[in-house]
Amino acid sequence: MPSDPSRVAIVTGGSRGIGRETALRLAADGLSIVVVYTANEQEAEAAAEEIRGAGGQAAIARADIADENAVAAVFDLAEETYGGVDVVVNAAGRMDLGPIAEYDLDTFDKLQRTNVRGTFVVAQQAVRRLRAGGALINFSSSVVGLAFPGYVAYAASKGAVEAMTLILARELRGRDVTVNAVAPGPTATALFLEANSEERQNELAKQPPLERLGTPDDVAELVAFLASPAGHWVNGQRIRANGGII
Ligand SMILES: NC(=O)c1ccc[n+]([C@@H]2O[C@H](COP(=O)([O-])OP(=O)(O)OC[C@H]3O[C@@H](n4cnc5c(N)ncnc54)[C@H](OP(=O)(O)O)[C@@H]3O)[C@@H](O)[C@H]2O)c1
Repeated sequence: MPSDPSRVAIVTGGSRGIGRETALRLAADGLSIVVVYTANEQEAEAAAEEIRGAGGQAAIARADIADENAVAAVFDLAEETYGGVDVVVNAAGRMDLGPIAEYDLDTFDKLQRTNVRGTFVVAQQAVRRLRAGGALINFSSSVVGLAFPGYVAYAASKGAVEAMTLILARELRGRDVTVNAVAPGPTATALFLEANSEERQNELAKQPPLERLGTPDDVAELVAFLASPAGHWVNGQRIRANGGII
């Protein structure tokens, strides 16, 4: 794929897991990257350093994705540092599992705040500021379809992300900007590994016909395609990347 040093991407959740791998992958395509994190500055800086070490351009920015002022400041930084924003990958998210009978409502509010309000706030800035030819990539989860018991609050938050995606694509009519949602299946990141026992991880790894867990790189490749000119005809879609588990 030709590298394009004038294109700029904001990647939330860029300090870890799928977001981090996506930041590196987009940088390999030549995009300048703003790595957004909320707690883990060292990891965000390490991701940016890795990009710079490979000859790319990267800055880091701290923002809770549900905080509209902090998110606006991230877009300001991208515009001031690199001249504009072409790609927004909103990979930041949290997952708190448990059956509804025992689910703590304070945890529910925090989960929805990050996954639903966070998606809304990032999309609001993206819709206002993405340049023509751009792409917004939201993050859902295959569990919206898998409907595992214990995932009720998390799947509800990701269902909301899917509901927003096609509407956002339509609100962007005439702007030449695409909006899609990527919905990974079980993927070996801290979010997944910390939430599942080893026994459950092995069980889930056997379920897709490809008989393994996903890797952050599997998902980053799809995001890079959707972000690239080659993927621009894909618009308003929810795309599951899960080895065929559903
Ligand atoms: N892994 C899976 O199996 C899987 C499956 C389906 C969907 N997903 C989705 O894929 C996305 C990436 O997941 P992952 O597995 O890569 O997660 P991860 O390894 O736990 O990384 C989560 C990232 O989100 C950031 N973050 C969390 N809350 C934030 C907030 N309020 N504001 C800004 N950043 C925040 C974290 O930043 P800090 O490091 O600074 O805390 C971190 O960079 C998520 O949306 C997740 O729901 C994952």
